[in-house]
Amino acid sequence: MDPAGAEGFTLPAMRTRRSPAAAVVLVLAAALLAACGGESEEGPVDVGRGVYGDMCSTCHGDAGQGGTGPALGETDAVFPSCTDHIEWVTLGSERWQEAYGDTYGATDKPVQGGMPSMEDRFTAEEIAAVVLFERVEYAGLPLEETAADCGITLPAD
Ligand code: HEC
Repeated sequence: MDPAGAEGFTLPAMRTRRSPAAAVVLVLAAALLAACGGESEEGPVDVGRGVYGDMCSTCHGDAGQGGTGPALGETDAVFPSCTDHIEWVTLGSERWQEAYGDTYGATDKPVQGGMPSMEDRFTAEEIAAVVLFERVEYAGLPLEETAADCGITLPAD
């Protein structure tokens, strides 16, 4: 729907025309406007879920259980800090190795290769969102703290 059209309903109109039909129209318009707003302002976890489904699930499993890539249930032990997790996903195996050497994460996992760089495929916001999604959904970390750790502002509800 067209939100601009809905903005045509103003408070003065509400005061001057008191017919019940007009009130119903106003309520419906407000409900539709709220519904549209909900769609366009998708939360960061939903954005991350979308990225995950498009790009990560083929290798990491559709529930983070692993496949060609490792399972993601303990990724918070590998990357205690969200920033490092974001850096890994941004660079991928090869560029990580060039920048930081042959191991990654707090558990010093050997870089075996095969994780593609996401830097040219997604925006920084989308990468942060998919990392947030992995940490909350698969590693089971609490949403608000994790969002703060990842530098993400959650929409007010
Ligand atoms: C082509 C397969 C593939 C795709 C696509 C892929 N990954 Fe990976 N991923 C891997 C492999 C393989 C590793 C292990 C890399 C290594 O040892 O160098 C890995 C490692 C990881 C790790 C470290 C996990 C751990 O516990 O060691 C994270 C986090 C991760 N990937 C996130 C993602 C995200 C997020 C996406 C999507 C944006 C993604 N991956 C897409 C194959 C993939």
